[in-house]
Amino acid sequence: MAGRIPEETVDEIRKSVDIADVIGEYVQLKRQGRNYFGLCPFHGENTPSFSVSADKQIFHCFGCGKGGNVYSFLMELEGFSFVQAVKKVADKTGISLPEDVDEEPSKPHDPEAQNVLDAHMWLTKLYHHLLRHSKEGRDALQYLHDRGFTDEMIEKHSLGFSPPSQDFVVTFLEKKGFHPQTMVKAGLLVVNDQGEYFDRFRSRIMFPLRNHLGKTVAFAGRAMGDQTPKYLNSPETNLFQKNRLLYNFDYARSEIRKTKTVVLFEGFADVISADQAGIHNSVGTMGTAVSQTQAQLLKRYADEVIVCYDGDKAGQQAAVKAGKLLKQTGCPVKIARLPEGMDPDDYIKKFGGDRFKKEVLETSDPYTSFIINYWKRNYNLQLEGDRIAYIEKVVQEVARLDRAIEREHYLKEIANEFEMALETLKEEVEEVRRKTSSAGPPQAGKPQRHTKPRTSVQSKLLPAFHNAERKLISIMLNNPVIAEKVQEELGGAFNISEHQVIVTHLYAYYEDGHESDISQFVERLDDPSIKELAVQLAMSPSGEEVTDQELDDYMNRIKAERTDRTDIKGLLEEQKLAEQQNDPVKAAQIAMEILKRKKEMKNTY
Ligand code: CTP
Ligand code: MN
Repeated sequence: MAGRIPEETVDEIRKSVDIADVIGEYVQLKRQGRNYFGLCPFHGENTPSFSVSADKQIFHCFGCGKGGNVYSFLMELEGFSFVQAVKKVADKTGISLPEDVDEEPSKPHDPEAQNVLDAHMWLTKLYHHLLRHSKEGRDALQYLHDRGFTDEMIEKHSLGFSPPSQDFVVTFLEKKGFHPQTMVKAGLLVVNDQGEYFDRFRSRIMFPLRNHLGKTVAFAGRAMGDQTPKYLNSPETNLFQKNRLLYNFDYARSEIRKTKTVVLFEGFADVISADQAGIHNSVGTMGTAVSQTQAQLLKRYADEVIVCYDGDKAGQQAAVKAGKLLKQTGCPVKIARLPEGMDPDDYIKKFGGDRFKKEVLETSDPYTSFIINYWKRNYNLQLEGDRIAYIEKVVQEVARLDRAIEREHYLKEIANEFEMALETLKEEVEEVRRKTSSAGPPQAGKPQRHTKPRTSVQSKLLPAFHNAERKLISIMLNNPVIAEKVQEELGGAFNISEHQVIVTHLYAYYEDGHESDISQFVERLDDPSIKELAVQLAMSPSGEEVTDQELDDYMNRIKAERTDRTDIKGLLEEQKLAEQQNDPVKAAQIAMEILKRKKEMKNTY
């Protein structure tokens, strides 16, 4: 049987090369003790923040966060599949692989996956048909027309309608021969305690969510009126992960390639609206923050990403976050501005696609100028103290820019605006740059004795419990004994969900009898961003030595945070109850209490 490469062989091959040799073929590495440093091949930089650990057999970039073992490196850099990466390394070692290894193990003939895809295909057709031709779908169709969606778009994106029935889809799928239990797993049906099956989506406008190959892998159902939830999505499955899928990427891909630009929206209504207005290089997330995976994908195709989010506070805040992440992948970013209270769809419907292109997309700001402006809202620039704090923040940001000409550009603006000497600002920026580069990995030709890789600046700003979790995990990754102790005392009770994922896998890994081996361990983590986080933590210099007292402190912090969160959750429920019982005074009192608790939590950070 053609199949996968046995796990032992994968391990054997990995262990028989030195990761530094493999990476050394692509990146000029300088040795520094047991580690190597070089310029990161995954993002543009002038000072080396890319490091390779010979002991741990992993790489990690302190600049962009990429990291993994030798296979991840080749997959990322060469665009290899896992099997191709293993083959490439095997070639170097002379270890032979089984003859009949599948070229693409991620696409084996998995009958269940095929089955689920088929069900989604049939349902896409069914929902679409019901929207176009059924009596029940008439209001839904009217709603879409009223919102300005053309028939062409409804057709292109296979929009549909789920009937107001409990079991229409149950019967439909059954007749087609699909097993209801599989359909529950796929998120198309739900089952109750009595084992009765029901349609998951009822009386909703259906947006099929297509993967990059154009296959429907999930649905989002929008309520027609103001019912909640506004959107009901399929649950995450093997085929559908919210943070991997980019809505409309299948259609947009060729236009993105051609124009080298992509416009990123927050929701599918915006994407379809833009598409209808002739902006075909439009993609969207599902209202969630952009993930590393999505950013990497966009960067591979585009030289410029225009982030186009809602004009309200939350939208702009999310845009800044997205811009920052995208920028870290080395991709130039622009951020579009929309009038307060409007989303892209509203704008296009009100002013038309041409004005949207000219007044929103074409006038969007480069990321740096956007945030320099955006930060102003947090300061009262009439006050000297605020003004200085603001300028300091800008200086920090400008210091991060790689190109001198860009730095100068922004400093000039600030100098003009605040009537300051350009030279002073330049000196400040150079000072920051000197500090950060000397705290960072060694620069070529500048020998340094005591070099520790820079921990991400961000970790300084994280709340204490968050840092405690990070430190603890970084120790656990290097030390099975401590991991066992933490398992007994804390178990999976970490507050950050990514951390929960890592420790859960880590416990299982050690229970399988493995020693600490981060390079092998990361193979168990499916999500690339979690993989990278694990590598980052394993590489962080928190050291393998830790006192029992420190351990207890970390664990106590984590527990305390958890209790606080549970308390607040309880209070929130009480508040909701009070609101339902029409007791606004009590609700307000509880709200105050929540605020107080939150503030106390902040103070302990
Ligand atoms: N979303 C979600 N669940 C919600 C609200 C939003 O999954 N309860 C996701 C959807 O993917 C949505 C995106 O977040 O497309 C953006 O949310 P929002 O701006 O509220 O929706 P719109 O896209 O503007 O949808 P519409 O114009 O139909 O209101
Ligand atoms: Mn909208």
